[in-house]
Amino acid sequence: MNTKASSFLVGAPMPIPTVDPYPAYHKVRKENPIYRVSPTQWVITGYQDAMSLLQNPLCSHWGQDSETQAILFSGKSAVAKTLFAFAPDSGLPYRKNVMHALAGKNLKFDGKAMQEQADKLLDKLVGKEEIDFIRDYAHPLTFETISRIIGIPDEDIPALSTTVAELDGMYLGLIYNPVATGAGGLFLSFLRTFIEHKKANPGDDLCSALIDACRREEEDESFILSMLILLFYAGHDNMMNFLGNAILALDKHQAEQATLREQPARAYDCVDELLRYDSPVQFFLLFAKAPIQLGPKTIAAGSQILICVGAANRDPSVFTNPDGLDLTRKPAHLSYGTGAYRCIGARLAHLQAGTALSKFIARTTAYTPVQGGTVWRTAPYVQRGPAAVKLHVSWNPAL
Ligand code: HEM
Repeated sequence: MNTKASSFLVGAPMPIPTVDPYPAYHKVRKENPIYRVSPTQWVITGYQDAMSLLQNPLCSHWGQDSETQAILFSGKSAVAKTLFAFAPDSGLPYRKNVMHALAGKNLKFDGKAMQEQADKLLDKLVGKEEIDFIRDYAHPLTFETISRIIGIPDEDIPALSTTVAELDGMYLGLIYNPVATGAGGLFLSFLRTFIEHKKANPGDDLCSALIDACRREEEDESFILSMLILLFYAGHDNMMNFLGNAILALDKHQAEQATLREQPARAYDCVDELLRYDSPVQFFLLFAKAPIQLGPKTIAAGSQILICVGAANRDPSVFTNPDGLDLTRKPAHLSYGTGAYRCIGARLAHLQAGTALSKFIARTTAYTPVQGGTVWRTAPYVQRGPAAVKLHVSWNPAL
């Protein structure tokens, strides 16, 4: 494998419009679904091709091996090491550990607690004609959930949530910059003290489980810190982006929103279609371990292969009317990934997403985006979600 090759993840492989990338995806898929950007860089936009590569043993996954990691994170080996710790075949206990902690029966922060938490946030917003859906609802709700699962004391969460809002999703930077200043520095310093406290006072929480596993693997505090940051990133950022994307999708599809308003609890059944329609994760990176024949094209060994999840999720050969939102659809989307690497927080994500949306829909009678009030994150392009969504809101007087 050519370890000198620059990674696709550094810059977008093709022009990707921030507000609506989907017309560009359709164009690439139609004209060149197995798109060779350079002799060793490819972009895949069709669903079947994406699935076949994701399941192909000749492909290694971006979290999988040290060569891959060297290309992706040269000079940032702490990120590589942390991601590798979650690889299914790393032989390390962390993936299993986190999966265990997030399994339904072990989840202390359950659906009822999430509903109460959503209600508490909405109680504070009722009566305001304008809110920022991300700042006032999606961010605090999803940050509190992952914080409680990790074991952050309740009384520390509000201040920590305010600090983390300033990071604007740039969690991973803290793994390779553990001397960050500003909000990043405050967050790191809080987590260091928190780890020390948990070491001395273990509890029934995810941080204590990680500390225990790290002790057995003889890992030090800096590794525990990186693992916690990755968990915040995985659990908070994707959830927040999902909620922002979903609320905008429901605004664009008023008839679908109206059916949801008749029965807001149906939101749980709509999460997969909302994930298909606008995924918070838009790309995965694979590496060809050997030459791979894909349709008429041969992908050379050592190539980097970007799977465009957003495009595959709207492939018309798999999804009828792919640009439409159909809340009755049960789509086999790729937004959580697939196979051994599939998101280990998917069950938790589903519960949070359904709870957050059903509560917001039930407690409002209508919402309208404020003109110019939606700001899309522009980096990194692998992720998709708005940093701000200002809404005019009509509150439900009955609730
Ligand atoms: C809608 C929300 C979410 C989406 C779309 C999502 C998506 C993903 C994706 C695409 C992956 C990587 C799959 C791959 O590399 O092939 C992943 C991995 C992971 N997810 Fe999620 N996820 C979500 C929520 C969560 C939540 C709530 C947690 C809770 C902690 C979580 C924890 C993880 C972890 C620990 C990993 C493995 C490490 C990593 O690859 O970053 N995810 N998720």
